[in-house]
Amino acid sequence: MTDSPLQIDGAALNGRKLSPTAATELLPPAPDVVSPAVPASVAADASHSAVSLLEGHSISAWFGTHKVLDRVSLAMQPGQVTALIGPSGCGKSTFLRILNRMHEMVPAASMAGEVLLDGVDVYDREQKLQDTRRDIGMVFQKPNPFPAMSIYDNVVAGLKLTGRRASRDEKDEIVERSLTSAGLWKEVRTRLREPGGGLSGGQQQRLCIARSLAVRPKVLLMDEPCSALDPTSTRVIEETIAELRGGLTIVIVTHNMQQAQRVSQQCAFFLAEQGTPGVIVEHGDTEAMFTQPQDRRTSDYVNGRFG
Ligand SMILES: Nc1ncnc2c1ncn2[C@@H]1O[C@H](COP(=O)(O)OP(=O)(O)OP(=O)(O)O)[C@@H](O)[C@H]1O
Ligand SMILES: [Mg+2]
Repeated sequence: MTDSPLQIDGAALNGRKLSPTAATELLPPAPDVVSPAVPASVAADASHSAVSLLEGHSISAWFGTHKVLDRVSLAMQPGQVTALIGPSGCGKSTFLRILNRMHEMVPAASMAGEVLLDGVDVYDREQKLQDTRRDIGMVFQKPNPFPAMSIYDNVVAGLKLTGRRASRDEKDEIVERSLTSAGLWKEVRTRLREPGGGLSGGQQQRLCIARSLAVRPKVLLMDEPCSALDPTSTRVIEETIAELRGGLTIVIVTHNMQQAQRVSQQCAFFLAEQGTPGVIVEHGDTEAMFTQPQDRRTSDYVNGRFG
């Protein structure tokens, strides 16, 4: 993948409005790491992964003429887990995809606003798309390892996509580190050459997390990562998130209010009322959001009265 799918002209860029693009339907099936480009030598360097602040400023989004987000701003704090909650269709996934420039891959999609990673606008024309995708990894709802590829090769797939040649020792180190961080190492250490598709759903999701971690992202975006998993696998993923927190900034979309309370420190409640674009009704400390919500709509939602 290259920068080319995003066609930005100067005038449009000044207005922060990005033109629609049409590249992605042709892309290979959905790896959860998109064009990571970090050299293994850098990936092996712990100092590379400083804990980062991610900010969305006045984000609006459209599909064609349909506006689905209206001037949404949110700061996702370094080393914390921010949960995005809200009814179906209110724009949570769209917001998440805007954070790592995946929205622009949807035909006829456009956006306005700024996304700042440690103060640098990821939509700045000086920014390379592959750098953003390396720094801001993503894990999807449905685990999507390369099924025929070995567990080992799944983890290093992100590095390979960049064309970078890492030594066997470097790869071994990256595979063990990433699988350990993802909470999967002990379960697969003796079967690294077996296909990723042979793992359980929960293990596959942790393999996808390991694949994302292999390039040492600064931020990990997770879009309902447990919704296809059984309760035991969900618990293990939640434990993994808790382990990762601190070293990584995490943003998770979830429909599970208990999960939002268990895993996140910050929470944002999205809502799109009566066909209007999605907005953030309320955000802040998760415990406060659940125990003393400021807005009646937040109270109704977190208490299961709608959505
Ligand atoms: N590729 C697309 N083309 C056109 N409209 C889209 C597309 N993806 C999403 N939308 C629309 O954008 C709005 C926001 O969708 P989005 O998927 O971001 O919501 P969500 O909050 O993630 O919902 P859910 O909880 O069901 O996943 C919805 O009205 C949806 O129909
Ligand atoms: Mg969604």
